[in-house]
Amino acid sequence: MATTRNAPDACTLLDADHKAVKKMFKDYDDLASSRAKSAEQKKLDLARQICQELTVHATIEEEIFYPALRAALKDTDLLAEAEVEHASAKDLIAQIEAMDTADEMFDAKVKVLGEYIDHHVKEERNEIFPKARAVRGLDLVTMREELQARKDALMAVEPA
Ligand SMILES: [Fe+2]
Ligand SMILES: [Fe+2]
Repeated sequence: MATTRNAPDACTLLDADHKAVKKMFKDYDDLASSRAKSAEQKKLDLARQICQELTVHATIEEEIFYPALRAALKDTDLLAEAEVEHASAKDLIAQIEAMDTADEMFDAKVKVLGEYIDHHVKEERNEIFPKARAVRGLDLVTMREELQARKDALMAVEPA
């Protein structure tokens, strides 16, 4: 049991994404408080990268992780909430992608997206992942490979 629990699984991969994007939001925050001229281009690049990471992450959850859980769990309220949160995050992502850092709302939108993702990640980490790991017969270790393969494919086509 202990070895199974320790094997990297789908939740491990998804949570590594969560941590990576959290760090990107932190870097963005540092850039946003910088007065350096070069910060503007760096902010734009980083914001685009955050949007790409989150879009790919949401897609692999929606295509692979959530449907498997929907099929396995009796109570799917948490998944429904997660899907609504994805839709709202995507809306904000689309707004950021259509904007430039010259827009006075740019930093605010990135910041709110970060707060929003923080909240969503907490629910996945504290509520959804434990439920997924408790489902008997759900092979999350194999699912990790599926998620990774789909992520690699999406990263290859999405412009960086
Ligand atoms: Fe997630
Ligand atoms: Fe999610």
